[in-house]
Amino acid sequence: MRILFIGDVVGSIGRQAISEYVPQLKKKYRPQVTIVNGENAASGRGITEKIYKGFLQDGADVVTLGNHAWDNRDLFEFIDDAKKLVRPANFPGSVPGVGVVYTKVNQLELAVINLQARTFMVALDDPFTKMDEILAQVGERTPFIFVDFHGEATSEKQAMGWYLDGRVSAVVGTHTHVQTNDARILPQGTAYLTDVGMTGPYDGVLGMKKEAVIEKFITALPRRFEVVESGRSLLSACVIDLDDQTGRAKKIQAFQISEDRPFMM
Ligand SMILES: [Fe+2]
Repeated sequence: MRILFIGDVVGSIGRQAISEYVPQLKKKYRPQVTIVNGENAASGRGITEKIYKGFLQDGADVVTLGNHAWDNRDLFEFIDDAKKLVRPANFPGSVPGVGVVYTKVNQLELAVINLQARTFMVALDDPFTKMDEILAQVGERTPFIFVDFHGEATSEKQAMGWYLDGRVSAVVGTHTHVQTNDARILPQGTAYLTDVGMTGPYDGVLGMKKEAVIEKFITALPRRFEVVESGRSLLSACVIDLDDQTGRAKKIQAFQISEDRPFMM
């Protein structure tokens, strides 16, 4: 089983990159499953139903979220009807939506889990203990398990990779918007990448207009950040190959598409 995972889509430039490149990436890599993190897709904040459906039309099978998911109130209206949308599983209390979705891959089934880290973020329930609970159920159903771990701290993400090594197929980080150069297969067969990176404006600061961010660093005054809406794009992704018998990972490759790293068929 081959999985294509595309990192945090930011604003209209990110959405255009998805429309443009997903069909080409599907031709090049022939993934059976395409997963897109869409938590910043609506002007950097959350996701709308129209954008979610647009991702599915562009070829995504599952859309994952994160800490900005609820910034756009639209989500509350459609999340319970969106069968291929997954939000962090470790919210405390009862929250709309689900933390695990299943997608069919020929005779097989892939579980896609979204999980949120806690370091330098709003403290949700402990994601490690939550994964034990989730795997007690998911592990009964399928050995093909993909985890999008949405978090700020590299240490927490590495710790989760080790914690889940041999128990899931892949742990891939999102949220920092900067792709890390540490894709590897852990000893017990879990593919790991600290952060897959973002898909959106190439010339901003994590997708935001750089001038306001620079000024905030210099003055320490509050500034309104806006997403860059025109200019060059960056797409960040990884491709993961799983053993069709065991669900363990065989290969993970991270890549980016930008003017500095042009797409080649
Ligand atoms: Fe995030």
